Amino acid sequence: MAQEGNGVGEHYAAKGLVQRMRTALAALGSEDRLLTTRELGAMDQFHTRGHAATAELAELAAIEATDRVLDLGCGIGGPARLIAESRGCRVTGVDLSEGFVEAARYLSQRTGLQERVEFHVGSALALDFADASFDVVLLQHVAMNIADRSRLYREIRRLLVAGGRFGTYDVVRGEGEPLYPAPWARDARDSFLLDAQATLEAVEAAGLRVRAWHDDTPAARNWAAQRKAAASGSRPPAPGLGVVMGPDFPVQAGNHARNLLEGRVGVLMAVFEAAFEAALEAV
Ligand SMILES: C[S@@+](CC[C@H](N)C(=O)[O-])C[C@H]1O[C@@H](n2cnc3c(N)ncnc32)[C@H](O)[C@@H]1O
Repeated sequence: MAQEGNGVGEHYAAKGLVQRMRTALAALGSEDRLLTTRELGAMDQFHTRGHAATAELAELAAIEATDRVLDLGCGIGGPARLIAESRGCRVTGVDLSEGFVEAARYLSQRTGLQERVEFHVGSALALDFADASFDVVLLQHVAMNIADRSRLYREIRRLLVAGGRFGTYDVVRGEGEPLYPAPWARDARDSFLLDAQATLEAVEAAGLRVRAWHDDTPAARNWAAQRKAAASGSRPPAPGLGVVMGPDFPVQAGNHARNLLEGRVGVLMAVFEAAFEAALEAV
């Protein structure tokens, strides 16, 4: 399967992740106690505004129990589990990182959701699924790692049934250069941000029509400000993304907060609908 540059793979390599999780999660009780998606939320929702953003995207995309949902760049599976649990559907996750997919399967066992979700290693740019395999495709904080947006959005369109929905929640370019390392890239070589307008144009060019559009930047800025304030408090944090990304994570998270607060990046939440075939042929 085609992949982005090695830097992205290295950034998310996650060696020994399941063992690190076992150690961190021991603080929440023995291995045989089922964990809740809420308890894992600080660790397994790898995007701005965590749990809340996933729930809002699922609502905006009107996901129903009968929908076949694909989460592209699923990370360690937090969004897939939350959506399967809260919307009653089945979710398939795909991610480049073998370590993340292994961790996603492990956490699904720990939450008892393993029958509702499945995870595969693969690239969002070239998937083995047949055309029109899904009613909904989701992409949360992944597009910024992908240079070839045209290919990405065309692949998403291919996987959707006519009338299916594509929900995206991604970091977009703002004013000025982002600071690195960021949570998604150690340096600018693995970061491929587009601004919101260019994102809209790239998605529409693939045969997807905008259905809901929400500039999430103000909410993201509030979240960043609250996290900065909380970081200076004394309460020990729940197992968080530091377990996944290692000791540099506080620096990455601090830069993400600054990037948001200084307007260097924004955040876009949007849902698109796959055009019917007649319209697609004109693309
Ligand atoms: C910031 S994390 C977001 C994870 C997840 N969507 C979430 O919100 O919790 C970005 C994820 O995208 C994955 N990724 C990056 N490029 C990819 C590609 N070309 N195909 C599949 N996954 C990709 C990374 O491995 C990583 O797990």
